[in-house]
Amino acid sequence: MQMMAFLTVKTLNDPNETPDRKLHVIIYRLLQKNDVAVKYPNEKVHLKISEVGSFLCLPALKMSMIMPEQNKTFLYKTFLYKTKLFYNFVSKFCKMEAPFIFGKLAEGQNFINRERDLENLKLNFKSGINTTLISPRRWGKSSLVNQAAEQLKAEVPELHFCFIDLFNIRSEEDFYENFATKLIRETSTKWEDWIKNGKKFISNLIPRFNVGLDPVHDFKITFDWKELKKSQDEILELPQSISFDKKIRIVVCIDEFQNIAQFGQSLAFQKKLRSIWQKHQKVTYCLYGSKRHMLSDIFENKSMPFYKFGETHFLNKIDEQYWIEYIGRQFSLTGKSISNNLSAQLSGLMENHPYFVQMFAKNIWQNTDKNCSKDIIAFTLQELLIQNSLLYHRELDNLTNKQINFLKALAEGVSKFSTKETLSTYDLGTQGNISRIKSSLENSEIIDLWGDKIEFIDPLFKLWFIQIYLGKRYSV
Ligand SMILES: Nc1ncnc2c1ncn2[C@@H]1O[C@H](COP(=O)(O)OP(=O)(O)OP(=O)(O)O)[C@@H](O)[C@H]1O
Ligand SMILES: [Mg+2]
Repeated sequence: MQMMAFLTVKTLNDPNETPDRKLHVIIYRLLQKNDVAVKYPNEKVHLKISEVGSFLCLPALKMSMIMPEQNKTFLYKTFLYKTKLFYNFVSKFCKMEAPFIFGKLAEGQNFINRERDLENLKLNFKSGINTTLISPRRWGKSSLVNQAAEQLKAEVPELHFCFIDLFNIRSEEDFYENFATKLIRETSTKWEDWIKNGKKFISNLIPRFNVGLDPVHDFKITFDWKELKKSQDEILELPQSISFDKKIRIVVCIDEFQNIAQFGQSLAFQKKLRSIWQKHQKVTYCLYGSKRHMLSDIFENKSMPFYKFGETHFLNKIDEQYWIEYIGRQFSLTGKSISNNLSAQLSGLMENHPYFVQMFAKNIWQNTDKNCSKDIIAFTLQELLIQNSLLYHRELDNLTNKQINFLKALAEGVSKFSTKETLSTYDLGTQGNISRIKSSLENSEIIDLWGDKIEFIDPLFKLWFIQIYLGKRYSV
């Protein structure tokens, strides 16, 4: 069989790139994207390469093999064998999984540090102490709660965990349906039992069970809203009723909890939740989320129902020393190396932000053949900035000039924004403007107000902003 794969090699015109890095990275990506090397290692593949002109000076790969003419078709196999170095590169990396993770829960060896947070959370879950966990976006709340749950499931079998995410829940009605569905599902294993238990524990109401073609994934309980209004308490009592009946203890973990503040009649709803949940003996609640000011208002405002509902815990970033160890280990596990100094630069550029350090490390790892270098870090950074540029430009399109000026001041390290000097140097208008600017930038999730600290939420955006608006290019 002969497979045809037409790949167009586009050149990135970055003067800082060395030609052979550029070729490695681009061709590797293309092959990976087209799954060529993995699926068809022994097939003949015609590889059509265009725009190869700028690779001509490539010494390591003996460029005569790549042929300078545009749109020439090559026999992929011959091409690979002839270019031994290239073949090793492709075959090695196309078979390998990236040793970094982002956008998913950090688990197993990808979960690092957090020993104290973990111990504390586990102790609270075991002791029945409600906990509220707050941190900016993507600092690792869900991973931490998940890790604590995984470890405790093995240590304390009577503890059952129920995870509820309020990310898309916009009304009380949605909340009740989601709450009931998750509790019923996660406290028994078979879907036939879900219906049985649903009827048993929600007896005053007639729940509707929606079971799709794949019952395990498509199971949902819904209610008639008019009827539900009369029996909301029964739903909120579910964790307690189930725990008594089944002689288990339940930890209810609710993510993005701040969303309840947006329900109509939120205060009355919060009062109801609190008054019912605080009586639960065999149930522990872990409530967490990322909108710090909203969560602080729910949990730290004396006039609010959830005031002192549990122990409040602020999650921090992960310190550089742990990143250095982790990055070095993940590189060496995959036959590559990176010095401690470069790992520190990598995590430093991403300000030790868990998601961004993992994402940046993955891209640097991918661009590294064997030993990571300063050039690779610098190249990868520019590559990511280019990739995100459109998105970042769009974010800025929605900002006023004063908001952009505020970001310039922040990027230049200003911390006191209301002084006369700052107001005039950065043209920020009056003192009164500052709190408006701050809260609108916070609402658009560009900055985060953390104690008296103000930070860019996205460290990559910060670097891009500094490069575009302050004309400073990062050197590694
Ligand atoms: N303990 C950890 N060790 C290593 N990486 C981590 C750790 N915790 C989080 N991360 C990294 O941060 C990313 C985001 O983690 P997670 O989803 O747990 O954060 P979150 O605070 O729940 O995010 P969100 O605010 O979006 O809900 C993970 O995909 C992973 O890349
Ligand atoms: Mg989360």
